Amino acid sequence: MKLTVKIWRQDGPAAPGKLVTYEVDDISEDMSFLEMLDVLNENLNDNGEEPVAFDSDCREGICGMCGVVINGRPHGNTGEDKHGNTTTCQLHMRSFNDGDTITIEPWRAHAFPVIRDLVVDRTAFDRIIASGGFISVNTGAAPEAHAAPVEKKKADRSFEAAACIGCGACVAACPNAAGMLFVGAKVVHLGELPQGQPERWIRVKAMVAQHDGEGFGGCTNIGECSAACPKDIPLDVISTLNKDLRRAMVH
Ligand code: FES
Repeated sequence: MKLTVKIWRQDGPAAPGKLVTYEVDDISEDMSFLEMLDVLNENLNDNGEEPVAFDSDCREGICGMCGVVINGRPHGNTGEDKHGNTTTCQLHMRSFNDGDTITIEPWRAHAFPVIRDLVVDRTAFDRIIASGGFISVNTGAAPEAHAAPVEKKKADRSFEAAACIGCGACVAACPNAAGMLFVGAKVVHLGELPQGQPERWIRVKAMVAQHDGEGFGGCTNIGECSAACPKDIPLDVISTLNKDLRRAMVH
């Protein structure tokens, strides 16, 4: 495949950025999107040009490092693909056609400032987790696994929410740059389990306060976050988050 890629290039957080056009040839449809970028970077290196900075780690869809906006959609996800949503590292070039022009940009959000090219600073998510995304653990031997039975329905919902990899696609997709799907996923993941009850009410208040303090916007129920999520986190985790927050205020 031969492709034209328009990539956001920006030297640093305070530098002005712009889309730069490159041609890439000899792209196999079996390559992942990041492998296509690897080929481009090898060409740039060979020509003595600066390679494009982008994040990746596992390249298996589990670490959440690799997010970029592809043709206006986080990870290229539309929520309509019959194969389901995916991460950028798991997106394959067979999703594109020979001769396509692809525009690649970093996450766009005040709380995710651009560090360089396609790399953004997502440590705001780490600070939200640090503010309440934990459970109290007593010292001593590991408790018997069956000592705290969990209802199947609750276990399933917790597990579904725990699939969130914190990639930030929800923020990039939201017109308000809200991170409520992320926060909702963490609140539901822990709040559905008996182990998550001791901190349940302080957790939700602390995480929402940290979310707001980091400069993320507020949720207005648009739903783009869930449509773009590579792990299909359902929108109703935000309903639970809001319900828990109201109850926490009363508590
Ligand atoms: S590199 Fe880990 S999810 Fe894509």
